[in-house]
Amino acid sequence: MSAKILMTRQWPTAVEEYLRSRYDVTFNTSNVPMTESELREATRNFDVLCTSTSDQITTHVLSHPESKVQLICNYGVGYEHIDVNACKQRNIMVTNTPDVLTDATAELAIMLMLMVARRASENERNFRTTFSTDWRPTHLLGTQVTGKTLGLIGFGRIAKAVAMVASNGLRMKVLYHSRRRADAETETSLHVEYCQDIDTLLAASDFVSLHCPGGKETEKLINAERLQTMKRSAFLINTARGSVIDEASLINALHNQIIAGAGLDVYCNEPTVNKQLFDVPNVVLLPHIGSATTETRHAMGMRAVSNLEAWLEGREILDRLT
Ligand code: DGY
Repeated sequence: MSAKILMTRQWPTAVEEYLRSRYDVTFNTSNVPMTESELREATRNFDVLCTSTSDQITTHVLSHPESKVQLICNYGVGYEHIDVNACKQRNIMVTNTPDVLTDATAELAIMLMLMVARRASENERNFRTTFSTDWRPTHLLGTQVTGKTLGLIGFGRIAKAVAMVASNGLRMKVLYHSRRRADAETETSLHVEYCQDIDTLLAASDFVSLHCPGGKETEKLINAERLQTMKRSAFLINTARGSVIDEASLINALHNQIIAGAGLDVYCNEPTVNKQLFDVPNVVLLPHIGSATTETRHAMGMRAVSNLEAWLEGREILDRLT
């Protein structure tokens, strides 16, 4: 089958070259995100949309009467930016790219935990203005991470990878909460304890790391009340989706020392970020870079390609969401 394929953003060069040499592909050479109306218009001309988290694939985009789209190959594991129900209704298949970004994202969660606890950003900002190490016994002291308690909310692949590093590498006690309890073998091998309710986990943890999907079900899961439930000395880490935290309540909690700090890689209204966050000293802010390593971004591209090729060749699709 000769399908017409649209790449909505630039992908790693080797992946684009692979696609260019084999398929009828149109590339977004400007690399500027397409607007909702551009995406809707594109559905008239393409069988396959290769999307990413910076595209909003809404019912409006999908509902063009002349739409040809049959497959949406998402570059990334999260897919709350795609109206999956609207795709199902229109028999549009949707795929994502799990597994390949697990370790990179887990690395980032651990990094944020260490950065915020050891006040890495504050220390570096200070260093860059004073040009002096200015060693003093009491200067910008952080919190030790080793041996503390980490609470994971959500227990998918990334949370499990974080648990492995935290318990084996940092000798942390690891608690987790998820809708479904893991089997006993998984709990034993990862040295994790299940908490039946989120509030027990929040009250017991020195670090809380979020690993649940975005979307309506988890929207503002961490709200003002839950932030109050955390220890005043605790840190909140988010590499999942910005919508999971009520950002205004978090900003208030950070300013008023309701919690000790936060490490964030994701935000409520990306690509826009609430400017008030930049005025908070005890927060580490990264620009959604969980999967941003050369190795991982290439692997994500090739995983999307393998889904595309399975669809083109009528084979079973590994990462089928609809
Ligand atoms: C993902 O894969 O979901 C990352 O957050 C990038 O979209």
